[in-house]
Amino acid sequence: MNIKVNLEKNSYEVSVNELKKLEFKGKVAVVSNAKIAGLHLQSLLSRLKADEVFIITLKDGEQYKNLQSIEELLNQLFISKLDRKSTLIAFGGGVISDIVGFGASIYQRGIDFINIPTTLLAMVDAAVGGKTGVNNAFGKNLIGSFYQPRAVYCESEFLKTLPQRELSAGMAEFIKMAITFDEKKLEFIEKLDENAFFDKSLDDVIYAQIIFESVKLKADIVSKDEKENDLRMLLNYGHTFAHVIENQTQYKTFLHGEAVAIGINMANQLALKLGFLSEVECKKVEKLLHKFKLPTYYKIKDSNEFYEAFFLDKKSLNAKLHFILPQGLGRAVIKNDIKKELILEVLTDFTKGRA
Ligand code: NAD
Ligand code: GLY
Repeated sequence: MNIKVNLEKNSYEVSVNELKKLEFKGKVAVVSNAKIAGLHLQSLLSRLKADEVFIITLKDGEQYKNLQSIEELLNQLFISKLDRKSTLIAFGGGVISDIVGFGASIYQRGIDFINIPTTLLAMVDAAVGGKTGVNNAFGKNLIGSFYQPRAVYCESEFLKTLPQRELSAGMAEFIKMAITFDEKKLEFIEKLDENAFFDKSLDDVIYAQIIFESVKLKADIVSKDEKENDLRMLLNYGHTFAHVIENQTQYKTFLHGEAVAIGINMANQLALKLGFLSEVECKKVEKLLHKFKLPTYYKIKDSNEFYEAFFLDKKSLNAKLHFILPQGLGRAVIKNDIKKELILEVLTDFTKGRA
């Protein structure tokens, strides 16, 4: 199965379960971390041919998605004397693909890279679309570039070793896209058998279907709006809240996808107050998130502090808060004129603890 990301320049294919052989003329550096390399590197290397292959392992974790890791990566590339005809392979989750993509975009003013994602989240979202970057003290993904991979290979076999929480986190990003763009995909997700989804001993056909459906949707959005001028912004649904939650918890309490799931619920509560979503629709989404064992609640300590933290997010263009809100299921809008009092009302509801 192949899906094309159609761009003005450098269109590319995302393949699902088609990786038989990978051949390169120049040098290749496979960039991963020790955990993923221990589990799956041999399987990848058995299919890889190049003049020379280097293995670079970075530290594992969102807390290392920073400029220090970029510098480490670049140093390794210089030590291995990679040139502009070389290729980087990002072999890992979204943290690896974001770092490697950014590294590739600045190493000698840009060299080729391909993504071979190993988490569901990276397969359904992060590895496709060319958003690359790292976090810094001011917030998440604040430093980066739009830099497209030459190809993406999603292989569901790698998901067999992925812990349950990570699988769930991947579903949060797919659910996000379905709510904002495509009610039919939402129905597809609702119909998925969660027991089959969480039972990794079964055939992994279910993952291939999920990846294919999600990538089809994302590829279409990226093809229409590569640089996030309008349409692609809707993919940030839930993220305005999620980034504050991740920052406040120092990336230690929630996985990114879990924070997105909570952010989706928070955004929906705001949409409910504005009359964009009904109570029934809000509950339906919450039920779907729970079906995939995702959290939907975070106890906010101080609603004013949480509100102020929104302004560090790069989506707060010109110091104006932008919220992506569903308008019914399968459609979303960007709102930048919501009254502070209303936002605070929603945040305050999340300070009270669960009923
Ligand atoms: P991750 O990359 O941290 O991977 C999660 C964990 O799973 C890590 O410990 C990793 O070592 C481990 N792992 C990876 N593959 C494994 C496997 N096959 N078996 C066992 N363990 C494995 O997290 P993630 O959820 O993949 O990615 C989250 C990141 O992606 C965030 O930084 C987020 O900002 C970014 N992201 C980027 C985009 C984008 O468009 N660029 C979109 C969504 C998310
Ligand atoms: N993950 C959001 C985007 O790629 O635009």
